Amino acid sequence: MAYKSVKGTKDLLPQDTLAWQHVEQVIRTVMESYRYGEIRTPIFEETAVFARGIGEETDIVGKEMYTFVDKGGSSLTLRPEMTAPVIRSYIQHSMGEQSSLNKLYYIGPMFRQERPQAGRFRQFHQFGFECIGQQAPECDAEIIAIAASIYQRLGISYSLKLNSVGDPFCRPRYKEALQDFLRGVYDHLSPESQRRTDTNPMRVLDSKDERDQVATANAPVILDYLSDESRAHFDRTCALLDELGISYTLDPRLVRGLDYYTMTAFEFVSTDLGSQDALGGGGRYDGLVEQLGGKHTPAVGFAAGMERLLIVMEKNGYVFPSSAPSVYLVGMDDASRAWAFRSAIDLRTKGIATELDYAGRSLKAQMREANKLACTFVAIVGESEMAAGQAQVKDMRKGTQESVEFSRLADYFTKDTENAF
Ligand code: HAM
Repeated sequence: MAYKSVKGTKDLLPQDTLAWQHVEQVIRTVMESYRYGEIRTPIFEETAVFARGIGEETDIVGKEMYTFVDKGGSSLTLRPEMTAPVIRSYIQHSMGEQSSLNKLYYIGPMFRQERPQAGRFRQFHQFGFECIGQQAPECDAEIIAIAASIYQRLGISYSLKLNSVGDPFCRPRYKEALQDFLRGVYDHLSPESQRRTDTNPMRVLDSKDERDQVATANAPVILDYLSDESRAHFDRTCALLDELGISYTLDPRLVRGLDYYTMTAFEFVSTDLGSQDALGGGGRYDGLVEQLGGKHTPAVGFAAGMERLLIVMEKNGYVFPSSAPSVYLVGMDDASRAWAFRSAIDLRTKGIATELDYAGRSLKAQMREANKLACTFVAIVGESEMAAGQAQVKDMRKGTQESVEFSRLADYFTKDTENAF
């Protein structure tokens, strides 16, 4: 029987990982310029971290988590997202006591048991960042600016949807008004939304079901119910985005699929993605630290799907930088093959990517292989080259050839910036 990777999961092969590494490098460069530090938390957590953090009524917690009981009887869950684990870690390591502002970023795999389709996987990867400790709208605008900057560097065009989901003072009033409205159109709602009318009415606005969309077309919107504080925070966030030249559309129906949000909520979408059009999303979550057992601490963050980003980059014909120059050493007899083996190790020690033949192939077959591997240089050595202490070096890009002394080879391959490794 031939085994296959589990449904909704994917192998990333060397030809794929080059693109991934490039994207990761761009993310790290941008994060460093904003002085974010990388955090790596375990792949699994106690289930309660997510159940309490994300909310029992969400699709993620209710339907999509990979939860299992380990042999010690603990309920554990493969992380479906990183905000709750980051906050768990923030509290555990008393980060708030060491600094009034903690800026953390991450890149890694997440797990959700959703129905796989284009752009939707069961193991997928996110990059994300969390700014913990301040409520200033500058932090919200900056989080959005970082995401925009990463997308821009990767040649991805997007639109940005923005909303405020209010705070604990204005939300109850809005929920009541929304529930009143939903009860009026109850018979026209999907069964899921009928249930949510009582448990989590704001999520009804987010439903993809056409019945719900028609029935709620005239539902009250949160922006009309914001408290003075939330209104001022939202207006200032919008003004800052305007100053930064980041365009957005207000979407009063944007509620996002996680319960921890307060005030700012936003999503980056791409028309290149089909039905799963969310490139990434985030918002403010001022109650989460307290919810997970810490002191009241405002925070705002964002996370994006890496697979979706790469899908769009490929569609847009993004040109990935070519890999570093490399060398293929060709030996033609026993002595020159032994030289090639020794020299390959020497060149690699000097940081030069080097290939050679291990199968005793002919000169012609080795040249074919060097071509197939797209090596930049081929150094050919036979009996006469061994005697002269020189290799015939072919520059495969220019089609030129010259003799180079063995002792000068490493310098030759790195001689100008064009050849730099
Ligand atoms: P989220 O909207 O659940 O937010 O996920 C963020 C992004 O992860 C989505 O926009 C999408 O690009 C990607 N994604 C989610 N599920 C899948 C999937 N099954 N397959 C492929 N990609 C997927 C969060 O996770 C929040 N933690 C974001 C955040 C950070 N809010 C504040 N800080």
